[in-house]
Amino acid sequence: MKKFFRIIAELVAEGTDTDIDLILSKLEIPTDDKLGDIAFPCFLPAKHLHKSPQDIAMELASTLKPPSEISSISADGPYLNFKLSRKSVVEEILSEVRSKRERYGSSDDYVGQTVVMDFSSPNIAKPFGLGHLRSTVIGNSLMRIYRFCGYKAVGINHLGDWGTQFGKLICAYNLWGDKDKLKEDPISELYRLYVKFHKEAEGDPSLMEKGREWFRKLEDGDEYALTLWKHFKEYSMAEFDKIYDRLGINFDFQTGESFYNDKIPAVINRLKDKKLAETSEDALVVKLDKYDMPPLLLKKKDETTLYATRDLAAAIYRYDTFSFDKLFYIVGSEQKLHFRQLFKVLELMGYKWADNCYHIEFGRIKFEGEEMSTRKGNIILLEDVIGKSKRLALKIIEGKNPDIPNKDDVAEQIGLGAVIFAQFSSRRIKNISFSWEEALNFDGRTGPYLQYTHARLCSLERKDVGEMPTPPNLNLLTDQREFSICKLIGRFPIIIKSALSENEPSLIASYLLELASEFNGYYQNVRILVEDKELKSARMALSGAVKIIIKIGLNLLGISSPERM
Ligand code: ARG
Repeated sequence: MKKFFRIIAELVAEGTDTDIDLILSKLEIPTDDKLGDIAFPCFLPAKHLHKSPQDIAMELASTLKPPSEISSISADGPYLNFKLSRKSVVEEILSEVRSKRERYGSSDDYVGQTVVMDFSSPNIAKPFGLGHLRSTVIGNSLMRIYRFCGYKAVGINHLGDWGTQFGKLICAYNLWGDKDKLKEDPISELYRLYVKFHKEAEGDPSLMEKGREWFRKLEDGDEYALTLWKHFKEYSMAEFDKIYDRLGINFDFQTGESFYNDKIPAVINRLKDKKLAETSEDALVVKLDKYDMPPLLLKKKDETTLYATRDLAAAIYRYDTFSFDKLFYIVGSEQKLHFRQLFKVLELMGYKWADNCYHIEFGRIKFEGEEMSTRKGNIILLEDVIGKSKRLALKIIEGKNPDIPNKDDVAEQIGLGAVIFAQFSSRRIKNISFSWEEALNFDGRTGPYLQYTHARLCSLERKDVGEMPTPPNLNLLTDQREFSICKLIGRFPIIIKSALSENEPSLIASYLLELASEFNGYYQNVRILVEDKELKSARMALSGAVKIIIKIGLNLLGISSPERM
């Protein structure tokens, strides 16, 4: 589409005596393509031409001489609408896909820029629940999108591996722990202890005190406490890694909260030097009432540090290490206040880059109507969810296509596709509700639907089609639907850019659904493998392009595209 934008910008620049790059930045794609394929809102030249945008649009519509790539120019209020000629759109877009293949839609717009993404970040010694799934999946997709656009993206898993909860766990382990169980099934044993601790503490508040005491010992480097903590961490990591492997997720760094222990004194000193830290009710805090926020807690009465203290140290460390252009925290909306406080304190400390820190927030996930709470113990384990999704997918495949090889792998890919895609079913800020029936519906707005469309296109290509003319004669694609599909493909690079600038992978998800349904509508009505070799080859070129786009798009969402299913 770039080419068409340029042609139109040149035309308008000449007609209005306006800077071509300015015009380029204002060109739009109308939502309703009946009006036009590209539009120019005529507000920009209104000033220096001393005319209303409406008049300018009318005038230009009748005076501009469209080159062969443009079939018509018309005015609609202040908008000047351009329709592209079918032949050149089809030709331009399909050739671009043919040459760029799996890099179609990628760019080097941001080469030289670095984004650091803090994502997933589950808490050690607790099961990996669905809450962290959203962060993991959104973060993974954003990493891919940013890299696709030229960014250097650094992924960090800021594991929750420090804090009072470890004091509580040590305390609980001393009281009720079972060494053998801990080895056998560490996460459930640790989780049992965690839940039991909170239940018992309701009747015996002194337990909380003991828990805090153990955490203080841990921060002071007590050997017994540290050894136990190391075991807890090791065991949990082994379990988490299994999940990351299945999801195909890698981090550049797995530096959790404990990594920042020795970096905290310097931060506290700087806060004291800047007269930002003060003692209030025995705790060390940064007051933020001027900014309508409660104080940020740095240290408790007993001198132990907090989540926020470690986050301050982590942000500073990250800037010193990566000198990032952007730092993202992919964390649920319930931590909104925490990040507002954090960014404000960084700004008050004099770090200019505090402006480049962003909380990429997202809504809650309800599972078949149930919300989850780790403390109460009604958590749904991600492992179980993926397992069930895979089993259901396997059943469906066995019904549809029982003879495919490596059924098990394919079921895993589809099961994951269903769970991952559901995370992108609406804008990230919205709460989502997950249901099996919806997520695995091969005809619904789902990952498996897209995977299935892709697999069907692969099977089309596997058919013995005989010799075909190359390059295909794309002029033969005269059907209106073929034109629409090409225009949609032409929009893909723009969708990727919006997904990046809005940090919204769901835009890619909904785009893919639109493309697949447009294509499937066409496929049901038009034969691709016709007798006529020329026509067959042109239609194969179109379906081949759709196949690649679906594959690229799913890959940007972190979903794989099996070739058979
Ligand atoms: N472990 C935290 C939690 O589960 C999320 C950490 C997010 N990252 C951060 N730098 N605070 O709530």
